[in-house]
Amino acid sequence: MVKRATSLTGPYQAYRRTERGGIDEELTRVGPGTPCGEYLRRFWQPVALSSELTDVPHALRILGEDLVLFRDGEGRLGLLERACPHRGTSLEYAKVELRGLRCCYHGWHFDVDGTILEVPGEPEGTPIPSRVCAGAYPAREYEGIVFAYMGPPEKKPEFPLYDLFVRPDKALKPAKVHSPCNWLQVRENEMDPIHITFLHTRLFGVQFVPAFAALPTLEWRETPVGMMYVTVRRWGEHLYLRSNDMILPNIARVAGVEDAEGETVFDRRGGTTNWVVPIDDRNCLTIGWDDVEKALPDPRRNALMDRAAREGRASMGPFDVGQTGDPTYEQRQRAPGDWDAWTSQGRVARHGWENLAMTDKGVAMYRKLLRRGIRAVKRDQDPPCLERGGAGPRATFSHNTVKRIPPASTAAADRELALAFGRLVTEKIFSGELRSRHPMDVPLDIGPPRHPQN
Ligand code: FES
Ligand SMILES: [Fe+2]
Repeated sequence: MVKRATSLTGPYQAYRRTERGGIDEELTRVGPGTPCGEYLRRFWQPVALSSELTDVPHALRILGEDLVLFRDGEGRLGLLERACPHRGTSLEYAKVELRGLRCCYHGWHFDVDGTILEVPGEPEGTPIPSRVCAGAYPAREYEGIVFAYMGPPEKKPEFPLYDLFVRPDKALKPAKVHSPCNWLQVRENEMDPIHITFLHTRLFGVQFVPAFAALPTLEWRETPVGMMYVTVRRWGEHLYLRSNDMILPNIARVAGVEDAEGETVFDRRGGTTNWVVPIDDRNCLTIGWDDVEKALPDPRRNALMDRAAREGRASMGPFDVGQTGDPTYEQRQRAPGDWDAWTSQGRVARHGWENLAMTDKGVAMYRKLLRRGIRAVKRDQDPPCLERGGAGPRATFSHNTVKRIPPASTAAADRELALAFGRLVTEKIFSGELRSRHPMDVPLDIGPPRHPQN
C-alpha cells in the first residue's frame, strides 16, 4: 500500500499527497448545529443591502439556511424561512401585503415575526394559526444594510455600534461581493498583511500605493473587540504605521491607503468596514461600507477615490481593487487580486495541507480566537467580544500613522526603530491618548535610534 501524506517533505513527491482530509470542520462548517455556525449565530450578521429590497420577496441563503427577506406595506422588515410551513412552496413567490406576506399557493398569510394572520381556505375556527408559525428571524436596518440575528432568541444581543459607524464626518456607502469559497479564507486575508507587499505591489504592479513595496515589521495584538495587526514600513524619511482591526468574529476594519505619503499622525479618514458572512460552507458574502468623506466635493468619493480622480487614474475603492471576479480569467491571471487568492485556495481550504510560517502568526492567532469563541458557545457561555449594550459606541483601533523619523544607521537598527514606533503608537491608542486629543499634539518621541546587540 502506498503511503500518502498531507504535508510533503521531499522533491518530486506529489504522488504521495493524500486525496482526502485536511478540512478544519470546527472553523469552516456553518450550518445549523455546527460549532462555528452556532458561534456566528450569536452575533448580528448583515444579510443583504437595503437596495435589494423591492416589492417582491428577496430570496437569500445565509449560514446554510434558505430564507426570504421583504419589507411589508407598513415598512417593516421580515426574514422568514423560504419554505412555506403549509406544504413547502417557496415564499420567494409570495405576495407582499400591507402587513406581512401571503404564500402564492394557498394564500396563507404570515406576519413579519412568522405568526399566521389568516388561512383563507380553511374552515372558520381552524386551530392552525394558534398551532403553526413560519420560521422567522429578527431583522433590522442600519445605514443601507439589513442585519439579522439568527441565534437563540433568549440570547439576542443589542445591535452593536462601533465608533467607526458613527463618525459625523463620514457617510457610509454600502456594497457587497460574492466569493465562491468558505468564509474563513476570505476573512483570514485581513490578518495577513504581508501579502500586500507581494500580491498588491511587487509582483503585478502597484495596485494601491508604492509605499507598500517595503516589507513591514509585523506584530499582532489582542484588543477589547478582537485583534489587530501593527505593520511599520520604512518609506524614505518616514515610518508608515498601518493597523487594521479584526472585530470578532467576522468584521474587518480596513484603514484607508491614502496616507502613505507625507506626515499624517493617527488618521482614520478613509477605509472600509466589512463582514464576511457565510452563505453556506462553500460560498460567502463580503458586505459592508466604504467610508465617504462628507467634506469632499463629490460625496460619492472617499479620499482615495478623490486622489485617483485628480491623478487621472481609475477609482480604487476598497471594494474595487481585486475584490471581485469581474475581470476576465486572463486579466485575473495577469494581475490577480485578493478575490483570486482566496477563491483559488479551494471551495473549503484544507488547513491540513498548509505549512504555516512566521508571517502567518496573525492567521494562526485569528483561528485561535475563533476557537475560543466557538468553545465558549459550546459551553453555553457568551463568546468573548459579544456586545451586550453599554455606554455608547465601542472603540476600535485601525489607523494610519505616518511620521518623519529618519533611518537608523543599519538595517537592523532601523527595524528596531520601526518596532519601537509601532509599539509606542499602539500603546497610545489603547490608552485613549490618540483618540481623545488632537492627534498632532500627542508626542511620538521614540528617542534616539537604538543599536541592536550584535
Ligand atoms: S404551500 Fe403555502 S399556503 Fe400552501
Ligand atoms: Fe489584499
